[in-house]
Amino acid sequence: MNNFVGYISSITQDKIIIKVPFDNIDQNFCINKDFYINSFLETNITNNFSIILKVNSINDNYDNNFNVIEWKRSKVTVCSTIIGTYNKIENSFSDKLEKYPKINNEVYLLEEKVLKTICSVDSKYLSIKVGNLINNKNIEISSNFNNLFGKHLGIFGKTGSGKSRTIAHLIRSTLNKELYKNDKKIEFSRYFNPKIIIFDYNGEYTNIVNENYIQRYDLLSNDETLWPLINFNIGSYESLDLYEYIEIFGFTETMSNHLIGRISEIDNLKKLMDVAKEKEDYKTKYDLPRINKFIKNPFFVKNLKVFESEKPELNFLYDFMNNKFKHVMIIKMNYKNPIDKLIFTLITKLIHNSSMTNNRHILIVMDESHRLFKDDNQIFHKYLELLVREGRKFNFSLWLSTQSLSDIPELYISQCSNFIVHTLNNYKDIMQVQNCCDFRLKLFEFLSTIGVQNAIVFGEAFSTFFSIKIKSTKKLSVVNSDVFDNWNKQL
Ligand SMILES: Nc1ncnc2c1ncn2[C@@H]1O[C@H](COP(=O)(O)OP(=O)(O)OP(=O)(O)O)[C@@H](O)[C@H]1O
Ligand SMILES: [Mg+2]
Repeated sequence: MNNFVGYISSITQDKIIIKVPFDNIDQNFCINKDFYINSFLETNITNNFSIILKVNSINDNYDNNFNVIEWKRSKVTVCSTIIGTYNKIENSFSDKLEKYPKINNEVYLLEEKVLKTICSVDSKYLSIKVGNLINNKNIEISSNFNNLFGKHLGIFGKTGSGKSRTIAHLIRSTLNKELYKNDKKIEFSRYFNPKIIIFDYNGEYTNIVNENYIQRYDLLSNDETLWPLINFNIGSYESLDLYEYIEIFGFTETMSNHLIGRISEIDNLKKLMDVAKEKEDYKTKYDLPRINKFIKNPFFVKNLKVFESEKPELNFLYDFMNNKFKHVMIIKMNYKNPIDKLIFTLITKLIHNSSMTNNRHILIVMDESHRLFKDDNQIFHKYLELLVREGRKFNFSLWLSTQSLSDIPELYISQCSNFIVHTLNNYKDIMQVQNCCDFRLKLFEFLSTIGVQNAIVFGEAFSTFFSIKIKSTKKLSVVNSDVFDNWNKQL
């Protein structure tokens, strides 16, 4: 097979242009059947090292004023991006570049064996298979497991592009023990106990893994099992304090001052209500309905007696973290009503406060995360922000999935170490991710052409950036979005 492509004719900081000799093209202007946009190329810089390139554009040089001889020598030019350096002796790849190739160097299509090395993380690290190259299904893309799960990950893409399935694939692979090292599946100790909390906006993740692994809370159906979450005494280490409740309820200044003046008496929600009632007048007329609406929520009514209890309650997080069999906590909620917000704040505060003493890593997955940030009230993400800023210190990582990047504060995106970007077509959204990625990767060029289940992946957990098809994974419990089916059934 002819692997020769052409000669280098121009070199810039990140790009290399290759002239393809006329003889090297067939009548269809093809160099080789494996040569296309996004193909990987190689040019030697020494006997042991080569520079790896990726095809960006293929251009026809035809021009009316062509000089016949020049034209014969080169009709097609190939513009390529510099990806990194391949070490032939060690069979290893690095995205660093110590030396540039020279003009007129020969460029070849990359051998499949070398391509495989580039697409997988160094085999001495633990890895997880994420997908396959879009252009070459035989090549698997793997990612450094500890980096992908241990650092913040942004999963972006317009609705229906494959974000939820990507999350499902990664979590399922982990719980199904599909992790590799030195090209072999690894052995798991009997202590293997992942801890993942999924905030499930659509109720999609119900069947993500085996039921035995899941601890469930359903905020949308007033699930009784939730009461331990809310029954903390105000001001105790595990609970929210009075100031935080005041913010959650959005009380007026008058009511807030009244409550703060009586802070020493208010040690549970019932007491808070009683003290608030004393200040019922024209200035505070909107405060009580707020708290009433909250307390009249059927979930609370059911559990009202709980508020009168003097006993400090079970710390649900401690329980989950120490349970040998439960790996995934699914909290079905929509980030909208006060209970959802209260619980979200409470969980992030608990993780924040207990992480110093708890050495098991916890991963929070927030699908449809823009919903949380849409709220102006900062209290809901106060602790999340603290955790995100110093994830490592807190043994914590966040997977943030959204279709609406412009609703996510910049801080969260800039703290992500890894990105899986499905189709995005909003200019503002693309630019927001572009600012975080390697300058060589022009997201625009890639994102406009990838389809469902495909994504651009990049970041510390990947050896370089790739356009991939995420591994297929079975259905989630999706609400049917097919209009015809929806209209064509008995409700
Ligand atoms: N990895 C995958 N394996 C199998 N099917 C997939 C995969 N990714 C996407 N799909 C197909 O695309 C559809 C949409 O995927 P998914 O629900 O994950 O999108 P989404 O980005 O989460 O959408 P939304 O923003 O509406 O939640 C799926 O129902 C499935 O048919
Ligand atoms: Mg989804």
